[in-house]
Amino acid sequence: MMKFLVISNKRMCQGIYLKLKRHRLTKGPIIRNDDKLLIPLNNSVDLITIRRLFPECEELRIEEKDYLIPERPRSFKDLLKNVLGSDELKRIPSSFDIIGDIAIIEIPEDLMNRAEEIGKAIMRIHTRVKTVYAKAGRVTGEYRTRKLTLIAGEPKATTIHSEYGLRFKVDVLNTYFSPRLAYEHRRVAEEVRDGEIVVDMFTGVGPFAIHIASLRRCLVYAVDLNPAAYRLLIENIKLNKRNLKGEIIPVNADVRLLAKYIRNIANRVIMNLPEYSHEFVGTALTLLRKEGGVIHYYTFEDEPEELEKAVRKLRCLVEAQGRRILKVLKVRRVKSIAPHRWHIVVDALVS
Ligand SMILES: C[S@@+](CC[C@H](N)C(=O)[O-])C[C@H]1O[C@@H](n2cnc3c(N)ncnc32)[C@H](O)[C@@H]1O
Repeated sequence: MMKFLVISNKRMCQGIYLKLKRHRLTKGPIIRNDDKLLIPLNNSVDLITIRRLFPECEELRIEEKDYLIPERPRSFKDLLKNVLGSDELKRIPSSFDIIGDIAIIEIPEDLMNRAEEIGKAIMRIHTRVKTVYAKAGRVTGEYRTRKLTLIAGEPKATTIHSEYGLRFKVDVLNTYFSPRLAYEHRRVAEEVRDGEIVVDMFTGVGPFAIHIASLRRCLVYAVDLNPAAYRLLIENIKLNKRNLKGEIIPVNADVRLLAKYIRNIANRVIMNLPEYSHEFVGTALTLLRKEGGVIHYYTFEDEPEELEKAVRKLRCLVEAQGRRILKVLKVRRVKSIAPHRWHIVVDALVS
């Protein structure tokens, strides 16, 4: 049996509940019961306590009832417990990406018939999410985009995503963006010194470039082949204008072509195209000053020894261009991309 405070005047309920909560006398939350509201009480509370706390509310009474307080769902998977079987539920990932107000989740193909319920459950728990997509393929092509299937909410693809107080307009269907790179964007930006010239070879909608220019008085060439990414890059520079100390030169081109015009210029080159970056080391070294500089080389590697493999690969590629790695400044796993497969970065000082 549980004790409840019974309230018929609904307008007073919130105030009474908050006061009980302040005195740690309720197990909350408020329960609707026909035309009355019930506040679950701690067992120690009696009518004398209630009269003392609320002398003006003579109609308040305490009832004892058998009543199970419904547990508040803590995750979207809690909401799906009555909809999906437990085996099905286990196969749905607990985590997913949220970009601005758009959520993107991976759903096994044979559970796509439940996708709408899954999407709605996500929106009920994450109330700022307005649109939910299911992944419908791998990240592919030169522009590194992926097909998505709308499963719930508004049919839209653009949103504003915040990272470290900076704002990025993203088009989840036509440009690449991963919210799981936020720390990496910031980490690299913090390595840059005032006065540097940086080339962000594969800038996407500009997160590395904009983080860098927000922290340092420097010049960043932000290059991308994808016209949709380039348009958003320009919008994002405007969106963050007041927070930028450095200058960004947006370029919509194949970086190999750009390297024919601006050679031997950069103190630092960022190569975040992990699937194909090995094909661009020659271009990066053309852009880098002859006296040397830093490259941030991104790659995918399988376990085991994924970090060692990444360093070995970069060393070979640099030496094949007649240059040398003077020092590996850092090597780290950026994120997991599949079981036993990692997105790795090597920061190297190159002669
Ligand atoms: C993995 S995304 C990186 C996005 C960005 N650096 C970030 O952190 O969000 C790679 C980008 O490289 C661009 N890209 C691919 N090949 C390119 C090339 N040859 N020249 C310039 N950009 C290229 C793609 O359009 C894509 O936007």
